Amino acid sequence: MPPGQPYPTGANNTRRTRPSKKMATKLAALIVLVAFLAGPPACEGDIICFNGWLKLPIQDPRLCPQGSMSRMNGRTRALVPVPRPSGLGLGLGYYNNRSSRSYCPRAEGIVRDAVSKAVAAQPGIGAGLIRLFFHDCFVRGCDASVLLTTTNSNNSDTEREGNPNKNSLRGLEVIDAAKAKIEAACPGRVSCADIVAFAARDASSILSNRRINIRMPGGRYDGRESFSNETDQLPGPFSGATVLLSNFKAKGLTSDEMVTLSGAHTIGRARCAFFSSRFSEMDPTFAAKLKAQCNDDDTNVDQEHVTPEVLDKRYYQDVIDGKALFTSDAVLNSAETIKQVTENAKKAGAWERKFERAMENLGKIGVKTKADKDAEIRKVCWKVNN
Ligand code: HEM
Ligand SMILES: *[C@@H]1O[C@H](CO)[C@@H](O)[C@H](O)[C@H]1NC(C)=O
Ligand SMILES: *[C@@H]1O[C@H](CO)[C@@H](O)[C@H](O)[C@H]1NC(C)=O
Ligand SMILES: *[C@@H]1O[C@H](CO)[C@@H](O)[C@H](O)[C@H]1NC(C)=O
Repeated sequence: MPPGQPYPTGANNTRRTRPSKKMATKLAALIVLVAFLAGPPACEGDIICFNGWLKLPIQDPRLCPQGSMSRMNGRTRALVPVPRPSGLGLGLGYYNNRSSRSYCPRAEGIVRDAVSKAVAAQPGIGAGLIRLFFHDCFVRGCDASVLLTTTNSNNSDTEREGNPNKNSLRGLEVIDAAKAKIEAACPGRVSCADIVAFAARDASSILSNRRINIRMPGGRYDGRESFSNETDQLPGPFSGATVLLSNFKAKGLTSDEMVTLSGAHTIGRARCAFFSSRFSEMDPTFAAKLKAQCNDDDTNVDQEHVTPEVLDKRYYQDVIDGKALFTSDAVLNSAETIKQVTENAKKAGAWERKFERAMENLGKIGVKTKADKDAEIRKVCWKVNN
């Protein structure tokens, strides 16, 4: 790791340092206790249930009823309908416009090369890049806030420290490498947020053997703030259908887009801690295979076992067959979404087209499109400009 780079790449460590599950369990137990002592009403949302990122030791429906888990995202925001992401100000080929001050015709090619190289060496990095884009866009919009370790407010508890990201993100070094090359070619023009978006597009293309071609516009500016607590807006592996839906609605995305984007779980890896509590709910043969792989909570397994490195529609057949890992995957079998799942599983090309459009919409969430006190073109992707 080059000096000055504040994070481990996570590229090779299949078994990482324990994210202190014991601590988390203790903390959760403490919170449950406090909630009891405080008396009813105790089912007040993500403070207690961590929006599905923690499995509580006590599964008390009074504390965590489905649907009341997401106070921040669900209840308060659901009152005001959230508009569709507009992506106003973004454009295809944004950096190819000769008369614009953002002209940088090599930008997209540089990203493509960096992603190709990284994915050829390790396909999982492509999975990491697709997830990075999702985690960026869902928190403060697509503004590369997920990359920051140093912010305008000088806080160090950035999004990277949040439960969904800590010891889990992959591909950050690819973004940095592309950014360095782009800065050398045309300094101060290309945002880290756009690099993240282009990288997710390119990883999708490569891992799908060119079957998925996302028309990804550019023109995003980079944010200057990042807070770990805001990663609560991301649904967790223990989230049920109601929470999933309200989290996506809170970003202006639809139920169908939620089902479509979940198909990304056909690639990449997952830690045993996130699914080992539900072996009994899975297909028995599949569960036995997983159980044998799970030495401990931090062991990683492939998310999809037939074509683990191909971005294809296979995930949906797994969901139908009881071979999905997380609760958040398995609940797509419920009445409201099973129709889409079945369609995606059976109809050739249907999911791929929907995934292209859903990724475009994901990339339009909360974008910043001009330089001001909240936005800039960063020089280095993990820190704000001075
Ligand atoms: C619907 C709600 C979702 C939940 C609850 C969820 C949860 C998770 C969890 C728990 C992991 C494993 C992390 C780890 O063990 O370190 C994971 C991995 C992953 N997720 Fe999701 N996810 C969701 C939606 C999405 C979406 C919308 C995308 C992208 C479009 C996505 C792409 C991925 C990818 C590619 C991986 C593998 C990452 C890697 O191998 O580095 N997920 N997700
Ligand atoms: C190119 O940039 C110029 C100057 O900013 C702008 O007026 C024009 O609309 C842009 N063209 C396209 C096709 O975006
Ligand atoms: C953050 O630190 C910089 C440099 O030390 C300082 O100039 C700035 O005022 C600080 N910002 C806040 C919000 O404290
Ligand atoms: C998140 O943390 C920041 C900084 O610590 C704080 O200003 C903000 O109010 C917090 N937001 C929520 C939703 O708790």
